[in-house]
Amino acid sequence: MIVRRLEPRDLDEVVSRVQRQLSNDAHRNHLLSPTFSAEQFADALRHASDQVWIAEERGAVVGHIYGALLESPEYGHGAWIGPDGASFDNGEVLAELYAEAGLNWIDHGALEHYAWVFDEADDTAPWYELGFARMHLRGVLALGERRAHQLPPGYSLRLGGTDDLPLAIELDEVLDMAQKTGPSFSLFLEHASRPEELLEALEDVEVHYYVVEHASQGVAQCLTFPLEARRGSFAQTLHVSAVVVKPEHEHRGVAQALIDHALNDALDAGFTHVETNWRVTNRRAANFWLRYGFRTTYVRLHRTIGSG
Ligand SMILES: CC(C)(COP(=O)(O)OP(=O)(O)OC[C@H]1O[C@@H](n2cnc3c(N)ncnc32)[C@H](O)[C@@H]1OP(=O)(O)O)[C@@H](O)C(=O)NCCC(=O)NCCS
Repeated sequence: MIVRRLEPRDLDEVVSRVQRQLSNDAHRNHLLSPTFSAEQFADALRHASDQVWIAEERGAVVGHIYGALLESPEYGHGAWIGPDGASFDNGEVLAELYAEAGLNWIDHGALEHYAWVFDEADDTAPWYELGFARMHLRGVLALGERRAHQLPPGYSLRLGGTDDLPLAIELDEVLDMAQKTGPSFSLFLEHASRPEELLEALEDVEVHYYVVEHASQGVAQCLTFPLEARRGSFAQTLHVSAVVVKPEHEHRGVAQALIDHALNDALDAGFTHVETNWRVTNRRAANFWLRYGFRTTYVRLHRTIGSG
């Protein structure tokens, strides 16, 4: 087996491998969209060709890998592999591809490696063998009927805006604390969003900022926005994030009523699906989303080079 950079002659084969893979994912989980544009994907590969590695055995393509190199305060200097970013005939092929591509990422300073993988044992096992571990889950819900949970007495809901920046900062810190607490222990990377980022979100006309109040004080929030087009997600998908309830207001059904409200708005606006992500170690969040009806599609696996 040899591992080498993508060449124009490989394009058709890589496109059809990824098309087969995503269509198989969508077949196994109806919360994944089967829509796939071969031309668009071929274009994306062409643009990134110096970062796409191919495994070849006896003249045939047996796998590929592509990781986008990105730097962020929260996730460090990393290489990011999407659900369409790797295909391999078996675990040996993935190991060879990762050895080659990973070395290049490390040479670029990217020591955090992330991969979205279909969340089934056979799909994740080859990555676990390479030292990857579960980090985030992607949960999806198909919108069907209106939801009817009401806020408890004394609570009210409103749409927020830029005037709510201090509240958004305060609730972001609550979220940050929740992530730092065990068993998440997300201690050493920056988690709190920067005020400029929060303001940018509040200014964005596509972002809805929902605020729950109690005694004229903001006590809970969530943000929603239309998800940008991506392979595997349905075209009309709303993303829900930054769901936070202040600790003294938890366990009263506030979050459930808040999300009901946001999803009813989404239904009215023509969205068909909703997505969110949670950290696997955030047990309360995981319980909340699964109990609400979200089901997992992909799991984000993570490996830090130098930690084992
Ligand atoms: C996750 C989170 C948003 C849930 O908020 P919440 O308002 O407590 O959620 P709900 O009240 O709707 O449901 C939570 C629990 O209260 C229970 N509950 C709901 N209404 C209740 C009521 N009237 N009486 C008693 N219990 C009730 C629910 O059954 C649920 O129980 P469980 O945790 O044992 O499954 C909140 O814990 C939080 O902000 N966590 C920190 C930030 C965070 O992690 N956010 C998620 C990021 S992905």
